[in-house]
Amino acid sequence: MRLTKTVGEYLLGFGALQQVDRLLPKSTRQSGERVYLIDHFFYDGSLLPRLPLLKKDRVLYIDTTDEPTTEQVDAITAQLRSDAPPQAILGIGGGSTMDIAKAVSNLLSNGGSAADYQGWDLVKVPGVFKVGVPTISGTGAEASRTCVMMNHAENLKLGMNSDHTLFDRVILDPELTATVPRNQYFFTGMDTYIHCIESLAGRYRHALADAFSHQALAVCREIFLSGNMQSDEYREKLMIASFLGGSAIGNSLVGLIHPFSAGLSMVLHTHHCVGNCIVLNAMDEFYPREVEEFRRMQESQRVALPRGLCQGLADSQYRALYEATIIHEKPLANALGDDFRSILTFDKVAEIFRRM
Ligand SMILES: [Fe+2]
Repeated sequence: MRLTKTVGEYLLGFGALQQVDRLLPKSTRQSGERVYLIDHFFYDGSLLPRLPLLKKDRVLYIDTTDEPTTEQVDAITAQLRSDAPPQAILGIGGGSTMDIAKAVSNLLSNGGSAADYQGWDLVKVPGVFKVGVPTISGTGAEASRTCVMMNHAENLKLGMNSDHTLFDRVILDPELTATVPRNQYFFTGMDTYIHCIESLAGRYRHALADAFSHQALAVCREIFLSGNMQSDEYREKLMIASFLGGSAIGNSLVGLIHPFSAGLSMVLHTHHCVGNCIVLNAMDEFYPREVEEFRRMQESQRVALPRGLCQGLADSQYRALYEATIIHEKPLANALGDDFRSILTFDKVAEIFRRM
């Protein structure tokens, strides 16, 4: 039995971002001192007119070309520490931007470096007040109690799993997802589907997480087996599914797909969501019904998956992929039991990667 914490308050609806002031601490409404961390996708300034910017507010654009790293989080934190500490942090963007906002918020209050907190329940005190604003749906970063970062020194992709990592407030504004490119919309949306199938297939279960997962999966099926996954109605629904999927995973664990996808990220710099889809497509043996359903969804949306990613790699690269996968003991044991290494031998893992 575990004590469950979820996001405190959220605002949902078309145009919700315009009302962001309602969710910010009263003390900042006149003085400012808020930091907006915005995905570089919006570098053209198109979001700024929607934000209640005050003189002391700061806007930083976050480069999300690659997955977040501990070094990147440390650098942004150092930049913010050099000035008066902000009273609120808003992360506006995809999973990477939101994860960086969560990590920076925790670091500002707890001190030290991002790598010190990669693991479970290592964050000691609440971070700076933080608000999450997804501009693409699926990662569940807006609702989860983690923020995933790559730590290249340790060859590790791991989050700060902590109740303090949860956002204090979340804004779900489907207007923001209107300009998402089609493939990215699909791959990112499938992250929710994958969180939920992994959670439901695991040994570490939680009745509330199961309920969140079942509902999120029902919504994913409705959207991705339909003719127009990006309609206004479905964009709003996918925001809810993403939120539910993130909440589910906050109370359970992922399974085999995320660890293999983390391996792809570490070694081949593959992005999280497309990586998950590539991995799922190679997992017939472990998730047969889900793989079949995923392929039907892909067909319905006419989205092609990158192929041949792991063909003809050097032995050292397969070894690196294996190491970066097998290190994720908790989710692998959740999927296969404590004895997972006897199933996921080097040869087996390499064979699965060769299918991608
Ligand atoms: Fe994910």
